[in-house]
Amino acid sequence: MNAGNAGNAGNAGNAGLPREAEATAVAHPNVALSKYWGKRPGDGNFPAVPSLSVTLAGLATRTRVRWTSAATGDRVVLNGRELQGGEAARALALIARVRAASGLSAWADVETTNDFPTASGLASSASGFAALAVAATAGHPGPGEWDAARISDLARRASASAARSLFGGFVELDAGPPTPRPDDVLAARPVARADHLPLVVLVCVTTEAPKERSSTEGMQATLARSPFAEAWLAEAPRVHAQLRAALLARDFERVGQLSEASALAMHASAIAAGVVYWSGATLDAIRAVRALRDAGVAAYFTIDAGPHVKVLVLAPDAPRARAALAATPGVLRVIEATPGEGARLVAPEGAR
Ligand code: PMV
Repeated sequence: MNAGNAGNAGNAGNAGLPREAEATAVAHPNVALSKYWGKRPGDGNFPAVPSLSVTLAGLATRTRVRWTSAATGDRVVLNGRELQGGEAARALALIARVRAASGLSAWADVETTNDFPTASGLASSASGFAALAVAATAGHPGPGEWDAARISDLARRASASAARSLFGGFVELDAGPPTPRPDDVLAARPVARADHLPLVVLVCVTTEAPKERSSTEGMQATLARSPFAEAWLAEAPRVHAQLRAALLARDFERVGQLSEASALAMHASAIAAGVVYWSGATLDAIRAVRALRDAGVAAYFTIDAGPHVKVLVLAPDAPRARAALAATPGVLRVIEATPGEGARLVAPEGAR
């Protein structure tokens, strides 16, 4: 899309960079075990509660950013389609921030692809903005020379969950300060390595369609209208602290129980505001998880801002759980993911 003079590309001083520069990054989505739901007041996209996630190998976004002076504006192409108007707003804001901080005088040409359904509650914004932040800052000077924390903060401004996809394994993001200033830095940080637990996440895909309501809209409606908003804001940090401790103790059953508790509390507060992401298939998958548990398999569910159900099991139980979930009506397919790496630069497609 033509972004007009967003970020003043034409006027910015050139910091001695090559006129044309290109970088490609890969990032994985993450699934929150303790959920972020709700923003601090004001600008800057600061979360109101802490969260803890696991970064998932097995699903990936690949993003190429080419800085060029031979263009008339920034352009973002997602899965082969150029984003128009508001669809590109968050990506363009991220690019404008990099341009301003790094003194660039070029437009960004962005091509990004997901190998999983986009914007349907499978955390495509997390991997998407993490990959964009890494590719857009590659090789450029910037505040703190764009170290991992600054890049995580940059991604967080587009989508708070994206801050966590910068890192591999188990990753935590604190709540923002109660009254954040727009330039406060808030980055995610790794809590435990990917091999800390032999975890398998079975992603039960229940639709290939985009979700009806974005997570930003859903959480804003929850805080504005849910009679349980205060209860959620009080409960989330408690569940988070308990889950963090259980994870560090490698207590999988407790991690699973607390993951369910976090997801259920989040959705209960949202549903009370009329924000319903679940479908019939969501409930069927929950029932299948409970049946697995009754049959002695330690399986636990979590659900984000969409109808899909993500099931946590330990590796030895994965084949049995996967078979049961795949046979559940409404589950279209099951993607098997394991804890994976953080966002990183890669060679351009076809160069390897
Ligand atoms: O980062 P966002 O704006 O896409 O919101 C993410 C919200 C949840 O996925 C439901 C929870 C989380 O912590 O990832």
